[in-house]
Amino acid sequence: MAERLDEAWGAVTTLATGPRPDGSAPGSIRPLFAADPARFGRFSHRADGLLLDLSKTSITGEAMAALLDLARAADLEGKRAAMVAGEPVNATERRAVLHMALRAPGSAGFRAGSEDASADVGAVLQRMQAFCASVQGGRLLGATGERFTDVLNIGIGGSDLGPAMAARALWTPGCPMRAHYLGNVDAHAWEALRPGLDPRRTLVLVASKTFTTQETMTNAALARGWLAGALGEEGANAHLAALSTNMKATADFGIAPDRVFPFRDWVGGRFSMWSAIGLSLALALGWDRFARLLAGARAMDQHFLSAPLADNLPALLALVEVWHVNGLGYPSRAVLPYDERLARLPAHLQQVEMESLGKRVTTDGAPVGRATGPVVFGEPGTNAQHSFMQLLHQGTTPVPADIILVARPDHPHADSHRKLLANGLAQSEALMRGKTAEEVRAEMEKAGTAPADIECLLPHRVFPGDRPTATILLPRLDPFTLGQLVALYEHKVFCLGALWNVNAFDQWGVELGKQLAGAILPELEKGEPRSGAHDGSTEGLMREIGRLQNK
Ligand code: F6P
Repeated sequence: MAERLDEAWGAVTTLATGPRPDGSAPGSIRPLFAADPARFGRFSHRADGLLLDLSKTSITGEAMAALLDLARAADLEGKRAAMVAGEPVNATERRAVLHMALRAPGSAGFRAGSEDASADVGAVLQRMQAFCASVQGGRLLGATGERFTDVLNIGIGGSDLGPAMAARALWTPGCPMRAHYLGNVDAHAWEALRPGLDPRRTLVLVASKTFTTQETMTNAALARGWLAGALGEEGANAHLAALSTNMKATADFGIAPDRVFPFRDWVGGRFSMWSAIGLSLALALGWDRFARLLAGARAMDQHFLSAPLADNLPALLALVEVWHVNGLGYPSRAVLPYDERLARLPAHLQQVEMESLGKRVTTDGAPVGRATGPVVFGEPGTNAQHSFMQLLHQGTTPVPADIILVARPDHPHADSHRKLLANGLAQSEALMRGKTAEEVRAEMEKAGTAPADIECLLPHRVFPGDRPTATILLPRLDPFTLGQLVALYEHKVFCLGALWNVNAFDQWGVELGKQLAGAILPELEKGEPRSGAHDGSTEGLMREIGRLQNK
């Protein structure tokens, strides 16, 4: 098995960097279109109305065959089956990985060991739905008898990014409630939110898988103090609910069990927006929209579980990433949603992808021996074009980009939307085509530029091209298509974990900083560092902060 896997990896890297039959450079894309005008048809794939176009990458038929062989050698399908069967595939935490159960019907029969995961999900969803109906129907009122108009979700990382991203994408003025998200322990965030909130009409959800996260517990205490200041201690309790796996900690915080919406440890934080962690979405958007979001994710799950690998969108997206990262040595990737409503998608994917795939050892603890998760960053188009796209066009190392387009807008401004789409399409075309010295020269001669100026400016105006993009096209942005899109990336992450043989579901790398912050905090309270406890830089900075604070 190890030998077969090594061979499969060897075939992929040799193909990526070795000589091409047509003599073109490794990674080049333009000659592939010249040789095969039907390339779009061969390298674009669909799942329930969502289209993924991989033709503007340097993947060839031969490369795809080698990548699919790698997927088989890495037993991607076997690992997928183990995840579905509820095996503890998150081995370092001895946990199953069953976020797919969150969007599946009770009859789907997901199990985690002896536990009926599907039944558990169904029961929590029913409670969430009943709670939403009571709040939205005005049967559950605030302490002063007023209706809740605003929901404040206090959480961070996976307990914030997914719901905040989806609320931003899907909320419209006709929705039942307004949603607000407080993540950072920086109280400037709380101070910025507070003036827009009326404690009499605000429902506060404390969202934390562990219910121990420093930022969330600090912000929860601030919000409870704010509620209690306006409504009294008893009154504050009527405005609080918790979303967590930790029943004891929610009780210790004083939240009554009927106000706790639980989920299980087989839901990873960054995959939890479909669980009770999504309650702010169900409240703010309405239950039907939340249910459609789950249905979209479920549709992508079914595609992921049933489509052959050669036509399986998450698997293909992962294989193309392997091609870029391991075959061609591209260390980063940009996510460019051409839809302002998806402004927080890059932030959500940063966690989903980088917290999952920023790993340096295999599932057995051995050095992984090859590059793993790339740096993921992004901004909505067209804003990105006026910020970092220069580097993507003319920087030294290619940065593959995902370009997300939405065919039909939900506003009446057809001209604006055409311009938006024109820019998204143009970016992927420009990145791939580039502009040769001959083209630049001809253009400048035609414009009457003096020959000396042409020679001087020419190298600056050449675009190398051959920069890959994957385009994802949604018919429109709605709860269903957003569910599909997010689940597509979640499953891509699973596939990459399987291909690189790393555990994509733990996150030990975040612990050290938390421990050290815990040690530094009492020293900051005391006003001076413990001598010899830190490196010279940390100690020097702590003394300088103390000096500035005492000025
Ligand atoms: O910072 C790491 C992390 O554990 C993330 O994985 C998680 O999404 C976030 O913190 C929040 O954790 P919790 O939901 O337990 O508060």
